[in-house]
Amino acid sequence: MRVILFTGKGGVGKTTVAAATATRLAAAGRKTLIMSTDPAHSLADSLDTELGPDPAEVAANLWAEQIDPQQRLEENWREIQEHMISVLNWAGLAEVESEELSVIPGLDELFSLADVKRHHDHDPYEVLVVDCAPTGETLRLLSLPDIIQWYMEKIFPVERRVMSALRPVARRLTSLPLPEANVYSAVQRFYNRLDGVRKILTDPAITSVRLVVNPERMVIAEAQRTFTYLNLFGYRVDAIVANRLLPDEVTDPYFLRWKQLQTEHLTTINESFSPVPILTSRLRDREMVGTDLLAELGDEVYSGLDPAGVLFTDDPMTIVRRDDGSYLLGLKLPFTDRSDLDLSTKADELFVKVGPYRRTIILPKALLARSISAASMKGERLEIIFERKAGNE
Ligand SMILES: Nc1ncnc2c1ncn2[C@@H]1O[C@H](COP(=O)(O)OP(=O)(O)OP(=O)(O)O)[C@@H](O)[C@H]1O
Ligand SMILES: [Mg+2]
Repeated sequence: MRVILFTGKGGVGKTTVAAATATRLAAAGRKTLIMSTDPAHSLADSLDTELGPDPAEVAANLWAEQIDPQQRLEENWREIQEHMISVLNWAGLAEVESEELSVIPGLDELFSLADVKRHHDHDPYEVLVVDCAPTGETLRLLSLPDIIQWYMEKIFPVERRVMSALRPVARRLTSLPLPEANVYSAVQRFYNRLDGVRKILTDPAITSVRLVVNPERMVIAEAQRTFTYLNLFGYRVDAIVANRLLPDEVTDPYFLRWKQLQTEHLTTINESFSPVPILTSRLRDREMVGTDLLAELGDEVYSGLDPAGVLFTDDPMTIVRRDDGSYLLGLKLPFTDRSDLDLSTKADELFVKVGPYRRTIILPKALLARSISAASMKGERLEIIFERKAGNE
């Protein structure tokens, strides 16, 4: 199954372009499911139909679903949440406040992503199109599996062991509610689902991310940042969709300045994301609602291309052995300002920090016996050289 994620700044046309992509695929006879992870749920409005938490057939070959975040939360988080509530109650918070606080913001979206795995593993769709929430939330969401993986591999096993040894003693010393074993198994189950999602979403043969932009300065700036972070976390962007371009037939002098600006911004878009393909769609004279209009938009966006194809392939991370025996680790981080970047290592981990986001890369064994001797930005690639430690070999 191919998975195609659409993201971008608020209001740029993510839902519309995602629905247009799914509609076009279905029209070409490909069995397609489109799901929304956006709590605002405008997918139903876009397709002009009612949608529920299970896939409903909305046209030939086209299924759509709107996940019920509350239901997913109940199914996955209840045991962990009950423990959190008991701790918050213990700390003196009222029941209602504890209930409110025990739901980490963005968690519902995270569970919608877990659905990606379920569909991938069990359902017979050829393509899964995912309409994501605006970039900020999507990024936080996509960075979570990375952070949680680190916690689960390094901290969780220790904490679990310590806690089971400590529980009888601690009970006598404090009334603070301690997590029971079932809380740990719930966390483990939750992690396993999430880790499966991460594997699917970072597999370039399965998942592509498409960034929707408008030819506007602020939208482009945000898309550039998103592009960096997606690369940092190992997600592959295979196309940029520039939506809402003023068509040639608009000659009204009022829009003349707008058209000039759009031409300039389109150049910026091309320069910023090249060689990633830039697909385009015009601003229509009406709202793009219903499968007929969406199919038209889809035709324009993809023209000769297969919407389910991998439209661009590139390696976000490479490791090569050089002639002098040192290794070069290349990490694609477009638009990274050198001052934004921070590197550190600890045991087998490399921490790459760009702005507020941090990625942990577990270094391959070949690099462990070596230390970083240089790091520099070469165009869009961060290049780190690992040399043999003095005294080795
Ligand atoms: N090319 C276009 N021509 C005309 N109208 C468009 C076009 N693209 C999007 N629209 C309209 O713009 C509105 C917003 O689009 P859409 O809901 O797809 O944006 P979004 O990025 O998903 O927004 P949100 O961030 O709220 O999820 C919708 O009414 C849609 O019909
Ligand atoms: Mg939307």
